[in-house]
Amino acid sequence: MRRMPRGLLAVVAATALFAVSACGDDAADEGGGDDKQVEVFSWWTGPGEEEGLNAMIEDFKQNNPGIEFINAAVAGGSGTQARQVLSTRLQSNNPPDSYQVHAGLELASDIADGKVEDLTYLYDRESWKDKFPKGLVDAITVDGKIYSVPVNIHRSNLLWFNPATLKKAGISEPPETWDAFLGQAETLQAKNITPISVGPAWAQMHLLENVLLGELGDEKYMGLWNGSVDWKSGDVISALDVFKQVMAVSDVKSAAADWQPALDKVIDGTAAYNVMGDWADGYLKGAKQLTFKTGYDVVASPGSDGEYNFLSDSFTLPVGAPHKAAAEKWLLECASVAGQDLFNPQKGSVPARLDADKSKYKDYLATALTEWQDTNTTIVGSLVHGVVANNAWKSEIETAYGLYAQDGDTAKFANAVATSYASVGK
Ligand code: GAL
Repeated sequence: MRRMPRGLLAVVAATALFAVSACGDDAADEGGGDDKQVEVFSWWTGPGEEEGLNAMIEDFKQNNPGIEFINAAVAGGSGTQARQVLSTRLQSNNPPDSYQVHAGLELASDIADGKVEDLTYLYDRESWKDKFPKGLVDAITVDGKIYSVPVNIHRSNLLWFNPATLKKAGISEPPETWDAFLGQAETLQAKNITPISVGPAWAQMHLLENVLLGELGDEKYMGLWNGSVDWKSGDVISALDVFKQVMAVSDVKSAAADWQPALDKVIDGTAAYNVMGDWADGYLKGAKQLTFKTGYDVVASPGSDGEYNFLSDSFTLPVGAPHKAAAEKWLLECASVAGQDLFNPQKGSVPARLDADKSKYKDYLATALTEWQDTNTTIVGSLVHGVVANNAWKSEIETAYGLYAQDGDTAKFANAVATSYASVGK
């Protein structure tokens, strides 16, 4: 097994997963129930989202000809809408057979509420524990039990651009710092090009976390989520002020409704840059049929070279899943080399499994896989995509961000985030 990249264990410690006390089912469940159908819940419906899922569904159907696959995906980037629907279903004890969740603290409340089955028996039976990076397995282990199956690794901290637009504006290289970005913004605005496009609130917060990472560096960034860095300290306030300046040269007043149309502005040349996770690669190369390096290109978001702001899409087995035996088969598909190698090249992510077929990952993804596996890469975790904050705190941060987007009061925002950490974040 390869050594873990530097930092993933620190992410695990920082997310304090071990503090969660689980009250799910202890038994080494052997599965059971009707296996004629499986209902799988995700938010992968849009272009660049559904192609990878469909590839895995096709493989599942071939492997399980007797099982009807019900795709219960709910539209909306980053699962904003899907999570609301899911929460209602879980509360009314009407779970799907499996649902998408991010590895990390996003699952903590469902574990604590006894909503998901302990899947350790599958990990033992299928010898999965050493098929995934140790740091990732540790990150999804709570009180010695594992509750989800990771299908991929995504990177959040990426700056996408169209080389033709930079050329037209006389810009030779994408910016390596946010300061350099703000310098380029003047040149771009003089040419009537929006320096950076943004999407809805979650996408703006995605930009925010990566401005914080770029400005504060990895250690302080992780400190934001584990209480060791004060949100009201000078460094953080300065970083938030940089974010405000970045937003001021964005198209926030006419922000795109989701991440795909925000990227479309980069592709049609009306905007120069967009910060988005590498699901953008799946969209640009798949749905938009663009060629990497000429039609689109990408670098680490300013100030974050050598850092991998990671997230991982995973699937669960809810307590009370109506088709438990079929759901287990879906989890086997998600964990399989074949499933991951069909899903990830189209999704724009790298496999969570260590023994996947590297030759299937080309262009951007070849670099992503190398960087993910490079022991010199520093791994940090995403706020917006479920790694570093529990749902209660994340929801408080979202509310505070909504106000910040209106009033631009940095001190008030920082104070709200710090206060809510003290009440619900620990
Ligand atoms: C993330 C998810 C990705 C991608 C993205 C945009 O939260 O992990 O797989 O779907 O949202 O919708």
